[in-house]
Amino acid sequence: MSDQTQTRPEKSLATVEYVTELSGADLNDLCDATDEAVKAGGGFGWVVLPSSDILDSYWKGVLAMPTRLLFVARLDGVICGTAQLITPPRNNEAQSFAVTLTTNFVVPWARKGHGLARKLLEKVENKAREEGYSVINLDVRETLDTAIKFYEGMGYVHYGTHPYYARVDNKIIKGRYYYKVIDPQAIEQMP
Ligand SMILES: CC(C)(COP(=O)(O)OP(=O)(O)OC[C@H]1O[C@@H](n2cnc3c(N)ncnc32)[C@H](O)[C@@H]1OP(=O)(O)O)[C@@H](O)C(=O)NCCC(=O)NCCS
Repeated sequence: MSDQTQTRPEKSLATVEYVTELSGADLNDLCDATDEAVKAGGGFGWVVLPSSDILDSYWKGVLAMPTRLLFVARLDGVICGTAQLITPPRNNEAQSFAVTLTTNFVVPWARKGHGLARKLLEKVENKAREEGYSVINLDVRETLDTAIKFYEGMGYVHYGTHPYYARVDNKIIKGRYYYKVIDPQAIEQMP
């Protein structure tokens, strides 16, 4: 009989966070994740993969912009997903209660089973609430079935479809527009 101890593989550690700075290694991981997300065909405006310099500058720019809040998901410490909130500009007093969710994805190797997208979106919603926002808006290509199921499962309400939303491989794709009231009390109290 073998005296080897049978050890069960440890469960991966799935974490999410709001970030205001990233180490060099994190930035590399985020660029790699973006690369994979673009190749997998979803969750980003890029259709053709940008060079690594452009990706690097893009993420540094996001961190530098006061109107963007950046969130990352990690599996065992490695960044494998992200989301951003765009806050309204100061002059937009009429929509000062609403933020827009954008560039939200989890890389294919980290999808399903870890619940990372759900955790990430919950983090985003909590942060938005903490910052005093009551509504999250988002839009998604009609072709991204998983994302559509995900957002609808998370309580996002489809209120319209844009017939000329995006062009991918020379084909026009429709876009679905959603909102979610994340602070119903605040909305009800609005004059
Ligand atoms: C959509 C996406 C973010 C989901 O990531 P994920 O980490 O696998 O999702 P989770 O494991 O947290 O699942 C959350 C919920 O999403 C839904 N979902 C996830 N994968 C699904 C699938 N393949 N089919 C149907 N529903 C699915 C389920 O409702 C799930 O809830 P459940 O676990 O209680 O069943 C990911 O597939 C992705 O990045 N896709 C490509 C990019 C994209 O579409 N981004 C959004 C556009 S802005």
